[in-house]
Amino acid sequence: MNKSLRKAVIAGNWKMNKTRAGAAGLIEELKPLVAGAGCEVVACVPYTSLETALKAAQASNIKIGAQNCHWAASGAFTGEISGEMLAEMGVGYVIVGHSERRQYFGETDKTVNQRVRAALDAGLTVILCVGELLEQREQDITGEVCAMQTKIALSGVVRQELSRIIIAYEPVWAIGTGKTATAEQAGQACGFIREVVAKLYDKAAADGLTIQYGGSMNAANAAELLSQPDVDGGLIGGASLKAADFAAIVKAASV
Ligand code: PGA
Repeated sequence: MNKSLRKAVIAGNWKMNKTRAGAAGLIEELKPLVAGAGCEVVACVPYTSLETALKAAQASNIKIGAQNCHWAASGAFTGEISGEMLAEMGVGYVIVGHSERRQYFGETDKTVNQRVRAALDAGLTVILCVGELLEQREQDITGEVCAMQTKIALSGVVRQELSRIIIAYEPVWAIGTGKTATAEQAGQACGFIREVVAKLYDKAAADGLTIQYGGSMNAANAAELLSQPDVDGGLIGGASLKAADFAAIVKAASV
């Protein structure tokens, strides 16, 4: 599979961190460090910091994303935010199906699919998270789990829309645990997901799809993970909250 056909994307997932003041500070710190990066740079910030982050990132190469969006365009869904609301602000990206949403907030493959559909309809680029639990890896069903999550999430997504889909392979056991998948495990799973997409659409579509690895990626292990032929970038949690660490990962993806 030809890596040069794809754009490398390094995205920070700030999770529930940073007030608006903290968000502005981090973006300001980051700007000079990632200026001229050879990959796409995205910061997915809490809803409350979106406006601040968008303003701080103006006239820089940092793109701003949200961490979720609802499946309906509007309606009686207290506490939720729609894709249209995000797009109107100038937000370009949204994470959908993160394992913490699945684990703590009852997200299912079906609601993930509905949210993907809604985000695409609003014009957003989706960072779709898939990945297995530790017990599923131990049962040797990583492939099956990733295939099922990918297939259901992409149901109703047409080929032309894949240009606005990024898949993040995030083994749940590696998220926030300091346990990183080996470069080989990451590469294998990303390659497998690419094959699933090739079967769903066609090889050219799969060859053009950006597939990230996520799960304790940091400044020290990024280069090795990113050297895998099927790993096109990273979704970074903890290490995205430190400008120097995140910039080092961006640099590793820029070669
Ligand atoms: P982590 O989080 O880098 O802190 O493991 C990754 C993620 O949840 O996207």
